[in-house]
Amino acid sequence: MLSRLDIYNVRNLEAVRLHGLGRACVLFGENGSGKTSVLEAIHMLSLARSFRASSARSVIRHGEPHCTVYGEVAQAGGAVRALGVQRETSGMAMLKVAGRPVRNVSSLVAELPVLVINADSFQLLVGPPAGRRRFLDWGVFHVEHEFFPAWQRFQRCIKQRNTLLRRDKLAPEELAAWTRDLASAGERLTACRRRYFDQLVPVFGEVAAELLPECEAVGLRFRQGWDASQPYEAALAATAGSDREQGYTHVGPQRAEIAVTVGGHSAADTLSRGQQKLVVCALKLAQGHVLRRQERPMTCSYLIDDLPSELDAIHTRRVCDQLQALGAQVFITCIAENAMAGMWPAAAVPPQLFHVEQGRVTPVGPANPGAGDAVEDGQ
Ligand SMILES: Nc1ncnc2c1ncn2[C@@H]1O[C@H](COP(=O)(O)OP(=O)(O)O)[C@@H](O)[C@H]1O
Ligand SMILES: [Mg+2]
Repeated sequence: MLSRLDIYNVRNLEAVRLHGLGRACVLFGENGSGKTSVLEAIHMLSLARSFRASSARSVIRHGEPHCTVYGEVAQAGGAVRALGVQRETSGMAMLKVAGRPVRNVSSLVAELPVLVINADSFQLLVGPPAGRRRFLDWGVFHVEHEFFPAWQRFQRCIKQRNTLLRRDKLAPEELAAWTRDLASAGERLTACRRRYFDQLVPVFGEVAAELLPECEAVGLRFRQGWDASQPYEAALAATAGSDREQGYTHVGPQRAEIAVTVGGHSAADTLSRGQQKLVVCALKLAQGHVLRRQERPMTCSYLIDDLPSELDAIHTRRVCDQLQALGAQVFITCIAENAMAGMWPAAAVPPQLFHVEQGRVTPVGPANPGAGDAVEDGQ
């Protein structure tokens, strides 16, 4: 859990220092005050990049050569782990874990798993399969330790195989060797995905039933990317001709997909935007549960940009109940100070409130959003 956060030159945040962060933090403020930028900074601490910008440059405060985020993660058992990320306008990234430089983002991610829920989240359902593969692999990465090396190996093999397939002069032995390697890495990474998916499905079913009791059963199906009745190597042999003709590998884990259904129909084609957001919340909550149930339990930090948008009070409250029950850390942004009033479970420790104003972040808590001017929804 993130207990301290220092942000320098991220968008309009020149210098923001937040200490003693608790399980639930609500950031409120006008449009353009810097709320999403705070979430972006936390995201950078986990993945070295923002969730909304494609380039590092756009996140760096105009006129500055770099931006820096420093954080402390309180681990189970009381230890504290320091994380640091600096991004330069050139795109260069400097990452540190416990004061030591690290080369790979995977070292950061492992320290601070973050999940984003925002206005774009419905894309996870309606967008291309690549988004759902990323969603799946994020969880697999945290839970299956064989996954990352297998995934790296697979990426290398498929790149090499596709290059060979595009060559004018075929090199059959070389192609066969890379195909064998590809098949074995692909099987390994798919086995990891399957094991993780099997843990995810029942938890997702429970959470989805809590969030959308009014919907028919929401289901998940995993498609591994080739005919599941045969080994990957056989599937590759069967498509060897068309692979060669078109110069790329047609089947495999690069084509894996998760199908989300409601009462047997595609969720993307059936649900309203608000319901889609709830299904995405259920998917991400389920990931948090799976991480928490590991031998070495991990606490996810949820970055939830403008939670109340598209959700009515009843469903917002259900999402809050679920987040609280999960024991995750939650950063929620909203516009009005009282937007989350009455939403967080009254019996829980109330969220810390922060007012974001022109790039400054000021604690105004502790406040009990369950009390005061909460509006009862009588509908
Ligand atoms: N690279 C940048 N340098 C300086 N300011 C920026 C940069 N990028 C965006 N901004 C400004 O930062 C402000 C904060 O944006 P944002 O965090 O999205 O606000 P909020 O989420 O509170 O609506 C906006 O007013 C925007 O104009
Ligand atoms: Mg915003």
